Amino acid sequence: MGRKVGIIGAGAVGATAAYSLSMMGTCKEIILYDIAEGVAKGKAIDIGQSNYYTSCSGTTITDAKTPADVKDCDIVVVTAGVPRKGDMTRADLLMINAKIIKSVTQDIMKYSPNAIIICVSNPLDVMSYIMHKITGWESNRIIGMSGALDGSRMAYQIYKKLGYGAGQTGSLVIGDHGENMIPLPEQVKVGAVPATAVLSKKDIEDIIERTKNGGAEIVKHLGTSGYYAPARAIAFMVEAILNDSHIMVSSSVLLNGEYGYSNVSVGVPVILGQNGIEKIVEISLDRETSAKFKKSVESINDGINILKKNNFFD
Ligand code: APR
Repeated sequence: MGRKVGIIGAGAVGATAAYSLSMMGTCKEIILYDIAEGVAKGKAIDIGQSNYYTSCSGTTITDAKTPADVKDCDIVVVTAGVPRKGDMTRADLLMINAKIIKSVTQDIMKYSPNAIIICVSNPLDVMSYIMHKITGWESNRIIGMSGALDGSRMAYQIYKKLGYGAGQTGSLVIGDHGENMIPLPEQVKVGAVPATAVLSKKDIEDIIERTKNGGAEIVKHLGTSGYYAPARAIAFMVEAILNDSHIMVSSSVLLNGEYGYSNVSVGVPVILGQNGIEKIVEISLDRETSAKFKKSVESINDGINILKKNNFFD
């Protein structure tokens, strides 16, 4: 595969993802597009200049003047949309962002017809579903960035509790990228030791709660969503695809019978490689987790049903 990455939406998350990727030198070319005039150009220049201090990074960063300039990309990352502000829930964003995603997706189909799409815009699972429905592409080519971020937030909370094991802690979050997400700290290991051996029941409950509130906590302090962790999670996924790494990370994917559900995009562990999703990994869920997963799927379907009621797919 080539190494050209388009980023649509050069706001906080999109531009920081471009910066993170450019520091790694993984891409040959990154092209930024933003509907707000000057944003993509200004950020492309700034990031391009930062490249001087990145040894061996041959990555070029350019800006697109129109969506048509984001052409022949191998991967397109979509962060376009309106971010969550204050106490706005992800669901509040639904209709505004759905329309943006529809038009962005139609452009990607036209100008980068062979791309793999990483969807970042919220509400994430519903936006990913829209992309599947509009493109009709093989489902492995559209991946929602959810568990990569929520997982890093869970690993952070485990580290905060323990004070050791940074970079050695597993992460697993499934379900929707929203209020009903399902962090599973009891399933992971710290180094080679099961997390349950070093964390109390109360610790685990705290970690679950804090992971679920990970995004909202940042909004509370900053007045806007976080962007370093989302951007790093995007870059991690892009690198896995470009390097054909076959790493496992939870992502929002269209299920076709896996986990007992179909026709819904929801977070489950997947293997990422040059074809996008190489495999959906099915783990067995105990009764309690199955019930949470059902609730999570239902919350995504509620969003999809709002779109259907508004004749969005007609
Ligand atoms: N085409 C291209 N860019 C667009 C479009 C569009 N149709 N509509 C909006 N944008 C741009 C905005 O101009 C803005 O620069 O998308 C960018 C979004 O950036 P921010 O407002 O800074 O939001 P950010 O924090 O980056 O979050 C982006 O990721 O995590 C999600 O919920 C978050 O949906 C949001 C997205």
